[in-house]
Amino acid sequence: METQRRREGDGLEYGVRGPDDAVRAAEVASVRHIQDALLRWYRGHRRDLPWRNTRSAYRIFLAEMMLQQTQVERVAQRYREFLARFPTVRHLAAAPVAAVIRLWAGLGYNRRAVHLHRAAQAVVRDHGGRFPKDLAALLDLPGVGPYTARALLSFVDNAPVGVVDTNVRRVVGRILQRDLTAAYGDAGPNPRQFQALADSLAPAAHSARWNQALMDLGSSVCASRRPDCARCPVMEWCQATREDEVADLPALRPKGQGAFTGSRRYYRGRIIAVLRDLPPGEAAPFTTLVERVRQLTDAELPQAWLWELAQALARDGLIEIEGDRDETAAVITLPQ
Ligand code: ADE
Repeated sequence: METQRRREGDGLEYGVRGPDDAVRAAEVASVRHIQDALLRWYRGHRRDLPWRNTRSAYRIFLAEMMLQQTQVERVAQRYREFLARFPTVRHLAAAPVAAVIRLWAGLGYNRRAVHLHRAAQAVVRDHGGRFPKDLAALLDLPGVGPYTARALLSFVDNAPVGVVDTNVRRVVGRILQRDLTAAYGDAGPNPRQFQALADSLAPAAHSARWNQALMDLGSSVCASRRPDCARCPVMEWCQATREDEVADLPALRPKGQGAFTGSRRYYRGRIIAVLRDLPPGEAAPFTTLVERVRQLTDAELPQAWLWELAQALARDGLIEIEGDRDETAAVITLPQ
């Protein structure tokens, strides 16, 4: 298979290989047909998203950091605002982290804003302002995991890697359901095995289109509930087209989080929301913050519990506490 020859020849090891990588593209009899049909479908059905009309690593990185756990529609508008405010990685790195946290409002999970900012600083400090092009260096950036690192490799340079998000996992899991069950049993492949398979499936030189086609198929036709198999461009080769088989295998479900994994996360978000509403640079006494969070949430929250949340936020770099020995005298700001 071309993809594998290329990888062996050029010394680039994007994927993880091991003795138990039983299912690879080379063993999937219909892989060429599936690639052709899906790429053809993508030409007529691709979503026109603002981060798809660029090869700029910074722009793609920004989008992918925003898209981690936040829906496409919500990201699109904010993405433009971020680019207007921070047009390059150097602008982002030079901004106060408070400005990034403020603009992050509505995107959820504020720690990602801090990671985004730290990653921009690392790119400027350690890589001369250019995003690295190898997996290990990308994985070293704050907030960058296997998904985001491969998204950059694929969408910027068409590197032969699979970009595995929830949709891709489900779509590939369905198309190759029988093969995967035969190779890995009912538990299915583990994440490392799945990544190796996804890497081997990506067509050389077209991986950006391929990965985004899988994403788009998963977000429309191959939805998790009630997939519309009649409109599917690869139905002919799909090993899970019978209705009872299309239901997600438990092993193919992500271990992801719900909207809020627990109240801690929710109340952490409310603390940041209160601080965002202060004029830039202004601090709030912790006791005022407690009042405002109580008003905002209409809940009788114990001060000691909010204090503990505040300390955790400070450890994560999301807020600064002045006078952190004494909660009644402490003063809180977004980090400057
Ligand atoms: N979700 C995460 N990355 C995406 C992308 N590049 N296109 C569409 N949805 C996505």
